[in-house]
Amino acid sequence: MTQAAQLTVAEPFLIQQNWEAYTPEQHSVWAELVRRRMPQLAEHACAEYLEGFHIIGLREDTIPNLAEVNRRLAPRTRWNATPVSGFLPPDAFFEMLAARKFPTTTYLRGRDSLEYTPEPDIFHDVFGHVPMHAYPVFADFLEHYGRVCAALTDKDKLERMGRLFWFTVEFGVIRQGGEIKLYGSGLISSHGEAMHVIDGPKTGAGPEIRDFNLDQVLDQQFLVSEMQKVLYAVESFEQIYEAAKQAEEKLG
Ligand SMILES: [Fe+2]
Repeated sequence: MTQAAQLTVAEPFLIQQNWEAYTPEQHSVWAELVRRRMPQLAEHACAEYLEGFHIIGLREDTIPNLAEVNRRLAPRTRWNATPVSGFLPPDAFFEMLAARKFPTTTYLRGRDSLEYTPEPDIFHDVFGHVPMHAYPVFADFLEHYGRVCAALTDKDKLERMGRLFWFTVEFGVIRQGGEIKLYGSGLISSHGEAMHVIDGPKTGAGPEIRDFNLDQVLDQQFLVSEMQKVLYAVESFEQIYEAAKQAEEKLG
């Protein structure tokens, strides 16, 4: 079955990745981005992220070819990194998550914006997000999250579910071996955001790290444009899968 046959509202946003069109300069920007992040992540990313990075075959020297990533990822968890044209409206985004297709941009930021890009790009989407999709419990959580949101129409409920996404998929942390480890893509892909968390105990200026609590998360406001003031630490990824199911009961 083709992607278009499975997706309806997201279908107009699907594109092909023209991997051959990336220039040597773009591959070199990718390499620099990966080189800047890996020393910190080797120490502070969660084990599942680091395993996923190798499972899906990400490399330091070249921008990932999504077809090759999917050849490794799909047999493992039935997820795909699916190329899209840019930001998706919520209904298209949730439709894709529910179908285990992660909307992935193919554009790469330029050398002048290594630390931050306002537009989504392949570094945030693939380096930041996709390794976690190789981990079965996270894979199941993300599909379930998409299904719950795809069935909601109430704006307030969708905003509350947006907070669950923010404090897990984007800015999630987990306790492993007595330490706080990163798994959210906003932390994985940003040196500054990650340092803010890692150095927090030393500087006293880091975010408050609370135990994950679904009711608190659903009510927790956040600002996209600032360093995060509060994060929620889980003990296991089963906890966020359970949270998505509980959210469905509360809001569905
Ligand atoms: Fe993201």
